[in-house]
Amino acid sequence: MATEYETHDYDVVVIGAGGAGLRAAIEASAMGVKTALVCKSLLGKAHTVMAEGGIAAALGNVWKEDNWKVHFRDTMRGGKLLNNWRMAQIHAQEAPDRVLELEEWGALFDRTKDGLILQRDFGGHGYARLAHVGDRTGLEMIRTLQNRAVERGIDVFMECTLYRLLTEDGAVSGAFGYWRQSGKLVLFRAKAVVLATGGVGKAWQITSNSWEYTGDGLGMALDAGADLIDMEMTQFHPTGMVWPTSVRGILVTEGVRGDGGTLKNSKGERFMFRYIPDFFRAETADTEEEADRWYADKKNNRRTPDLLPRDEVARAINAEVKAGRGSPHGGVFLDIASRRSADYIKRRLPSMYHQFMELADVDITKTAMEVGPTLHYIMGGVRVDADSTQTTVPGLFAAGEVAAGMHGANRLGGNSLSDLLVFGRRAGLYAAEYAKRVARMPRVEDRQVGAAATGMLAPFERREGENPYAVHAELMTSMQDLVGIIRTRAELEEALTRIGRLRERAQRVGVKGSRVYNPGWHLALDLLTMLTVSEAVAMSALMRQESRGGHTRDDFPKPDPEWAKKNVVVRRREGRLTLAPEPLPELPSELRPLIGEDRPTGKIRLEPVAAASAKE
Ligand code: FUM
Repeated sequence: MATEYETHDYDVVVIGAGGAGLRAAIEASAMGVKTALVCKSLLGKAHTVMAEGGIAAALGNVWKEDNWKVHFRDTMRGGKLLNNWRMAQIHAQEAPDRVLELEEWGALFDRTKDGLILQRDFGGHGYARLAHVGDRTGLEMIRTLQNRAVERGIDVFMECTLYRLLTEDGAVSGAFGYWRQSGKLVLFRAKAVVLATGGVGKAWQITSNSWEYTGDGLGMALDAGADLIDMEMTQFHPTGMVWPTSVRGILVTEGVRGDGGTLKNSKGERFMFRYIPDFFRAETADTEEEADRWYADKKNNRRTPDLLPRDEVARAINAEVKAGRGSPHGGVFLDIASRRSADYIKRRLPSMYHQFMELADVDITKTAMEVGPTLHYIMGGVRVDADSTQTTVPGLFAAGEVAAGMHGANRLGGNSLSDLLVFGRRAGLYAAEYAKRVARMPRVEDRQVGAAATGMLAPFERREGENPYAVHAELMTSMQDLVGIIRTRAELEEALTRIGRLRERAQRVGVKGSRVYNPGWHLALDLLTMLTVSEAVAMSALMRQESRGGHTRDDFPKPDPEWAKKNVVVRRREGRLTLAPEPLPELPSELRPLIGEDRPTGKIRLEPVAAASAKE
């Protein structure tokens, strides 16, 4: 019997409606092409809202010395120089315009006393650089973009999971999937497709990601022939909630530390002073007294080691807990109460105040929070052209977390929201231009659609098969225990063995009931994708024999200058994943001086502009 499905035709189909997807769809529609925005969840429910503390952009409102060059330097150094330099350059140059545009579209940022957009400190940023709305910046960004998209009349398809990309002669021709509610199959034929599906946090047990983040775009891109790079580079945000267990992993914004919060162990020590890496030593307070003077002075509070890049802080917390100096529930303490007034905390960090009050019965204006690392982001993803965001598959574009290169080995907080805006816009622009050049709607082969449909419906043929939830639970435990903050060869090999066994079980997974809103079926399909992506992460982590950014090997504890020049590239060939190290695009000589020395000498002391007085 022929497969039944409905068909929609568009010039550009954007998959994913977080910040990057919304921004791409707005741009494509502004270019006058017929645009669809397809999302797995409800519009507005996206991991973008988990970037709470702000959007990094060198506006220079608080520190006039800030500019794109310093932002570029911070991003490259934070990424341990594994970044695609051109992406980092475009990002630093274009982020201020994207923030101002967002403001024009209605985003209500916090202000300095002079009425400028206020900027806050964040880890690894040399200046207070994050434009913010309290601790709800991602939410405000989504709200603004969503309004803009609705105003433009963009066609939005909600609760629709796209599962396979289709190609004609190697170029993208559409995407095939299902309606989550009815279980009916749906085909989008398209001249160009933009992937903006985010990451794969749900492969780990402790994560800030919600159920949607199962690596869909990464899996679809691989299957369509695109390259993935840097998959070993996973980001554990240092501060997630650790207690109660039911909310473990939920994000505690870096804005808490940006606004003066400090990390302490069970002995009350500010342990971060022990972990300042050479790379940052000259820019960071060496002693608590010095950091305290800087806090008092308020001009220099960005130099506290609590605000080192995330990979450094997550490793330090991990080490304190392992050394037996953790908090009662296996984290450390994050204390803002002893530095800031209750009024200040409630005004600057309203969501954190409510989150801890309601979920943990902890009043953060009086008591320290218990926090620990949570899988938050993947720096690796689909390889794209820096300027156009096109992948190695013609007509397929990618932006946001699903794309790689921009953040190198470690992303600085706040650089995600600006990445979504900068490269979301570029993806929409270049996808629209590409679609305009394609003379006719691509043909979709029945064979490809039939194979996709058969695979998707297979779990219903095995009603007594394995339980998808049980297989998922084992995947999450394996990734958490064996592909975590600190990795070893033996653990990674064990992870790959387990993933292989779980894949066999996933292929026997069965689901009961009908296709009408059947979460077990949805998970059965997501599971196959998560296994593929997890395998790519573990294989890449095994290949990279050094420690760099979000990838720490206990057996290769130092960065290796040879690996600094290479991306690990993953491809699917004849059904299997293949890996190869390939050279990184070389940093042009004119940009090299901007990065600075590996070990800078002399602390940088800078005077703030008057706007900084808006801070308490
Ligand atoms: O901590 C945070 O507010 C997260 C920001 C980000 O991931 O960029």
